[in-house]
Amino acid sequence: MTKRFGDTVALDDVSFEIPQGEFVIVLGVSGSGKSTLLRCMNALETPTEGEIRVGDDPVTSPRDDIAMIFQQHNIIDQMTAYSNALTGSLNRNSFIGSLLQLQDESDKLQALEALNTVGLLDEAQQSAKRMSGGQQQRVGIARALVQDPTILLADEPVASLDPGSSQQVMGYLRTAARKRDLTAVISLHQVNLARKFGERFTGLRDGQKVFDGYRDEFDMDVIDQIYGDIDTEGMFAADPDEATEASGGSTDDASSKRASSGGMAK
Ligand SMILES: Nc1ncnc2c1ncn2[C@@H]1O[C@H](COP(=O)(O)OP(=O)(O)OP(=O)(O)O)[C@@H](O)[C@H]1O
Ligand SMILES: [Mg+2]
Repeated sequence: MTKRFGDTVALDDVSFEIPQGEFVIVLGVSGSGKSTLLRCMNALETPTEGEIRVGDDPVTSPRDDIAMIFQQHNIIDQMTAYSNALTGSLNRNSFIGSLLQLQDESDKLQALEALNTVGLLDEAQQSAKRMSGGQQQRVGIARALVQDPTILLADEPVASLDPGSSQQVMGYLRTAARKRDLTAVISLHQVNLARKFGERFTGLRDGQKVFDGYRDEFDMDVIDQIYGDIDTEGMFAADPDEATEASGGSTDDASSKRASSGGMAK
């Protein structure tokens, strides 16, 4: 697939195949094409050349079996967690019907089950505006699950969250994907989180795919390939908790970057 915006080549002949159920993390610096890739996968953008296929079926318009979670939670503040989750069934019901909560029992059960999956069953009646950013993002995941997709796309779902909430949200995403055998494609900026939760990794640079592989190949050289000369200190701890400490201003120099990356490659 190639996607051009005027003279800008946002995606340059990118091609890959994902077996059902894989949990794929897309990495790359700002402007490398991550959002464009995800937006094309959900038909929010049309590729200039090439196509996305689910099975043999080309994706030409947004569809129910592909759910998308955005960086900004875009949930409705005034509604409860439960009502927000329930809007995931919108496409199966009329808009007005959804607002009036005229969904059938199975939709309601799905909403509760989805809230349970993201650890928010106890907060179901909590108004979204009273929830933390991490909780709101989990409501967003619940809503995507209620859509009952087979493919889950997320464009930097944890970009606006602190490290602890980021880990939690990624954990719930991973759990939800496993539980429902969803194919997940998630863009991230944090290499440490990618490493902790990812199964397969796709690296973009200037719109080109510079890496596509599994955990055992995702080492320091690959990270250099994806990020080039960018200062990546603090992104490379073997465990995200270490990265949190490092960003708190403890030991952070070039040698610790290399040392901790050794841990990562294990
Ligand atoms: N609608 C658009 N019109 C024109 N150019 C665009 C459009 N969307 C993206 N681009 C360009 O395509 C390239 C890839 O952008 P994209 O948003 O996919 O990058 P990204 O990897 O998601 O970056 P970030 O990490 O900052 O979100 C950039 O050069 C960007 O300016
Ligand atoms: Mg983006």
